[in-house]
Amino acid sequence: MLNKLKEIEDSGINEINGSSSTAALEELRIKYLGKKGALTSILRQLGTLSSEERPKVGAAANVVRQKIEARIEQKLAELESLQLDLKLKTEKVDVTLPGCKKEIGHLHPLRSTENRMIEIFVSMGFDLVEGPEVESVYNNFDALNAPADHPSRDETDTFYISDSVVLRTQTSPVQIRAMQTRKPPIRIISPGKVYRCDSPDATHSPVFHQLEGLVIDKHITLGDLKGTLDLFAQSMFGEGTRTRLRPHNFPFTEPSVEVDFSCFACGGKGCKLCKGEGWIEMLGAGMVHPNVLAGCGIDPDEYTGFAFGVGIERTAMRKYNINDLRLFYENDVRFIGQF
Ligand code: DAH
Repeated sequence: MLNKLKEIEDSGINEINGSSSTAALEELRIKYLGKKGALTSILRQLGTLSSEERPKVGAAANVVRQKIEARIEQKLAELESLQLDLKLKTEKVDVTLPGCKKEIGHLHPLRSTENRMIEIFVSMGFDLVEGPEVESVYNNFDALNAPADHPSRDETDTFYISDSVVLRTQTSPVQIRAMQTRKPPIRIISPGKVYRCDSPDATHSPVFHQLEGLVIDKHITLGDLKGTLDLFAQSMFGEGTRTRLRPHNFPFTEPSVEVDFSCFACGGKGCKLCKGEGWIEMLGAGMVHPNVLAGCGIDPDEYTGFAFGVGIERTAMRKYNINDLRLFYENDVRFIGQF
C-alpha cells in the first residue's frame, strides 16, 4: 500500500505540473483528494491492515495529501500570476493615444456680468439684498408713487397673478421692502428677474434682469448719485468712461434722470456703435420721491436718497457689443461659448 501511495503521489504531482488552467487544477483536486478520490480510497482500506501497518500507512497517506495540496496551491498561484501577466500585456494602456478632454463649462455671460456689477457696488459699501419675483401691486406700483392710471399698470404691460399680485415689472419694489425693514442709513443693491408682457425681439424679452440700487441718508444729493455712477461706469467699462444725466420722468424719483455713458468704442467722438452721438443710454435714476420715503415711514425732511435701476442684459450687451437680446436665452453654445 505504501507503493500505491507513492504511485498516487507521483502521478498527482505530474498531472498538477502539466495542468494549464485553474479549472483543470480543480478537477485534479477532486480526482486525488475528493471524497471518491484516490487517496480517500486508500484511507478507506486502512481497516483491512494490521495494527502495525495501519499508523504507518495512515501517516504516509497524510504526507501525500499535504504534498499534493501544497503543490496544487503553488500551481494555482503560478497560473494566476501568468494570467495576470497575460492580462497586463493584452490590456496595456497606450499612453501616446490622445486623451478624452473633459469640457468644463463657465458662467453664462449674464451671470458673470451680474457678478461683476455686484462686486463693484459691494466694494463701494452696498449690501446685497433679494426680493421676490411675485410681488404685491402695492410694492410694485402704489408704494412707488405710480398714479392709478400709469400705463405700466395696464394688463397689456404687466403679468397679473390676481388684482393685487403681479410678476414684478421692475426691481424697484425691493427699495420699498428695504425701507420698510431697515433704518437709514440704507445702502442696498438688488439684482434679479423682472417680467413684462413683451414679445421677444432684438431689444425686448418678457423676462429680463435688472439691478436696483438705493441709498438713503442725511444730506444725500444728486452729486452722490453721479459720483457713484461714475465709479460704476469706470469700473465696468474702463477708466476713461464718463457719465451724463438727462432729465427724465419716473414716478418714484424727483428729479428723475436717464444716465448715458460715454461711448466705449469711440470715447465720445461719435461712431457707428453710438450712432454718432458719443453717448450710450444706460440706466434710469433719480432722487427718491418724498412720497415714497414718507410712505415707508422715513421723514423726507430729515432724509434724502437716490435710486437707480440698470438692465443687466443692457450692460452685458454694451460691454460685449451684442446686438440681439435673444442670444442670451437661446443657449446656443456657439454664442455662450465665447465668453
Ligand atoms: N424701475 C425703472 C425701470 O424699470 C428703472 C429705474 C429708474 C429704477 C429710476 C430706479 C430709478 O431706481 O430711480 O425702468
